[in-house]
Amino acid sequence: MQAICVFQPEFIRVFSKVNGWDGNCCVVDRLRYPAGMSYVYEEYRDLVVIERVEEAEGVVTIRVGAPTGEKLPSWEPGAHIDVQLGNGIERQYSLCSHFGADTWRIAVLRELDGRGGSSYVHDNINVGDHVRTRGPRNHFPLVDAPSYLFIAGGVGVTPMVPMLGQVIFDKDAPWTFYYGGRTRNSMAFRDRLEALGVVLWPQDEKGLLPLDEILSQTAPDAAVYCCGPEPLISAVEEACARLGRPVPHVERFAAKPVDTAGDPGDHEFTVVLNSSGAEFTIPRDRSIIEVLLDNGVPVMTSCTEGVCGTCETKVISGDIAHRDSILSEEDREEGIYMMPCVSRCKGDRLVLDI
Ligand code: FES
Repeated sequence: MQAICVFQPEFIRVFSKVNGWDGNCCVVDRLRYPAGMSYVYEEYRDLVVIERVEEAEGVVTIRVGAPTGEKLPSWEPGAHIDVQLGNGIERQYSLCSHFGADTWRIAVLRELDGRGGSSYVHDNINVGDHVRTRGPRNHFPLVDAPSYLFIAGGVGVTPMVPMLGQVIFDKDAPWTFYYGGRTRNSMAFRDRLEALGVVLWPQDEKGLLPLDEILSQTAPDAAVYCCGPEPLISAVEEACARLGRPVPHVERFAAKPVDTAGDPGDHEFTVVLNSSGAEFTIPRDRSIIEVLLDNGVPVMTSCTEGVCGTCETKVISGDIAHRDSILSEEDREEGIYMMPCVSRCKGDRLVLDI
């Protein structure tokens, strides 16, 4: 069986599901919890930059591969990697190559008022450089649905590029895709996406996306995906609520505002490590992750804001006070996972699967 992948840098690439790739992704969300296993600490992977492309105004794509040339692990659309930058900070970037490709590709927008991560990539990362990465992991998976509506804003298009590939080539499901950007020139992958039927919506030409109209014209059982700047995500969430639609699937770049006033986690409590029985007191003004790292417990962390999912931890017992920007209402009701960089305990004791 053959499929055409339009998301490679060379634009058209024919790959065979028989020769070298069987079409199955082996890396899924909750990478650290393979069946029957407890917390697994992920090591960093050293990769080499094999391509750098100025993809659009202010957007560069970086393709990385194994220094030895071997194939990198597969992943599922929506997945991201942690990239350790030479200026001592770490950032998460969605993968936007084809999920069966040998190499990984990310797209980075230079944020003029950012904290230095994107500028570092733009100014310092070139072909031949080595970068340390961790992952991929996926907190934004594509669910099965009769049809799909994608709403992307700016560089938020990146996780949706491979998603669209999966919907077209694997699911063969109906889809609609609106891609908003500041200007046409600032929109990465615009020509390739437009050729597939994606509706481009440059703000300087058309204004803001007419979300109510778009959502009203979308089948009630369509899965709605949105990624982009916070105002766009909030507007989509509000429009879905207003129109009586299910909660959309969203991925944020930054933590959504969480009102912790009167939060049931706003007190001191005890964390117990299930593997050793070790107990730690978490003061009211410190996070679980901070206390564990201070005590030499090897836990993974990155954003420390409840956005990236790196610290996701399974909870054996205890009542979680969620404060992250990732887990869905369903996840929260299940009460199995938490982000201990921000989330806390409603009661006085949490037992973690560490
Ligand atoms: S470190 Fe990013 S969610 Fe906790």
